[in-house]
Amino acid sequence: MIKAAILGFGTVGSGVAEVLSLNEDKITRTTGGISLKYIVDIRDFPGNRFESLLTKDFAVVENDPEVKIVVETIGGARIAYDFTKRCLLQGKTVVTSNKELVATHGIELMEIAKEHGCTYYFEASVGGGIPIIRPIAQCLASNNISEIYGILNGTTNYILTEMKKNGLSFDTALRQAQEMGYAEADPAADIEGHDVCRKICILAAMCFGHHVYPEDVPTEGIQNITAVDVDYAEANGYKIKLLGRALEHDGKAYAYVAPHLVPVDNLIADVEGVMNGIVVKGNAIGTAMFYGPGAGKMPTASAVVADVMDAAKHLKNPKKPNWADSDPEHTGNADDLEYVWYVRSDAKEGIGLEIAENEDEYVRITPAMTKQAVLHAYEGSKVFALIRVLQ
Ligand code: HSE
Repeated sequence: MIKAAILGFGTVGSGVAEVLSLNEDKITRTTGGISLKYIVDIRDFPGNRFESLLTKDFAVVENDPEVKIVVETIGGARIAYDFTKRCLLQGKTVVTSNKELVATHGIELMEIAKEHGCTYYFEASVGGGIPIIRPIAQCLASNNISEIYGILNGTTNYILTEMKKNGLSFDTALRQAQEMGYAEADPAADIEGHDVCRKICILAAMCFGHHVYPEDVPTEGIQNITAVDVDYAEANGYKIKLLGRALEHDGKAYAYVAPHLVPVDNLIADVEGVMNGIVVKGNAIGTAMFYGPGAGKMPTASAVVADVMDAAKHLKNPKKPNWADSDPEHTGNADDLEYVWYVRSDAKEGIGLEIAENEDEYVRITPAMTKQAVLHAYEGSKVFALIRVLQ
């Protein structure tokens, strides 16, 4: 029986304990058995069915040679970073759902794991329960990938959907997303796009081979999206979705996060609520899409426990890092690329095709141009909204 521990007994950590117990028979049949020995958390959980496993002392896990697999579901990049590093230095395989940690320190942690004969797993860090990390690393390994984009945040997609479909206010929809365990501890990370930024960094690194750091990725959230723009978009055959996107152009990888007008005939437009959808373009497969629950306790735990099972089967055969460290030669600034833009402004004359007009407001769709060029073209006018249009 392989012994495991969980660090952080919050939404995902408690889901991991539940899935290990719920599916114990199947897990034992396929791995020989995984036994949860400790759960580390500074909080008390009186009456919880896993109470006997709880300890506040991380060193108990660190120093127990019997524990071979550690699940890190603390979140953030401080304590989680310290504990993950210390586990890997002891040769313990670490499984995480912590996208912030993978996006900021992933390459360093994978290298430490390699040196100490263990593996750093992170399937659950992107897309919640959707299989995406392993499909890119294995099932699509024969492809050169040119582009990956998708709806990568369940909370914001839930908010946009509920506001449109059920007329909920932004605050009510956000509160519901929090109650259902979708939102980050600080939901600003969801709303302002930072969570998507971390996830697209991981996907860009997986697809294009070099670490991409969040601070190098232009990031916009949904905080400036208004009902007026949602309505104009809808009247013209689009839905507004927050996308993370990474693509290769002239040998460099570019990544960014921004709301987009998505044509309603693109499958991504039908990804609603907490669901995530990820489109991958490869030179052999063509276009593939991955779809499923992108946040929430049990879907995320589903991905974590699958990694724990994979880890249990590969303890003697650890996996190699998925990418190399960042390289300025291979990474470009996504603000230098050209996009088609939706512009709502007070400019009577402006570049692009006018799609709506209302009193002193004019809405246009521009040809492909850089952000700088479109702002220059509208200099002297009030630009109320500037949103990319997905092609
Ligand atoms: N807050 C994240 C989301 C959780 O809403 O997608 C899953 O990463």
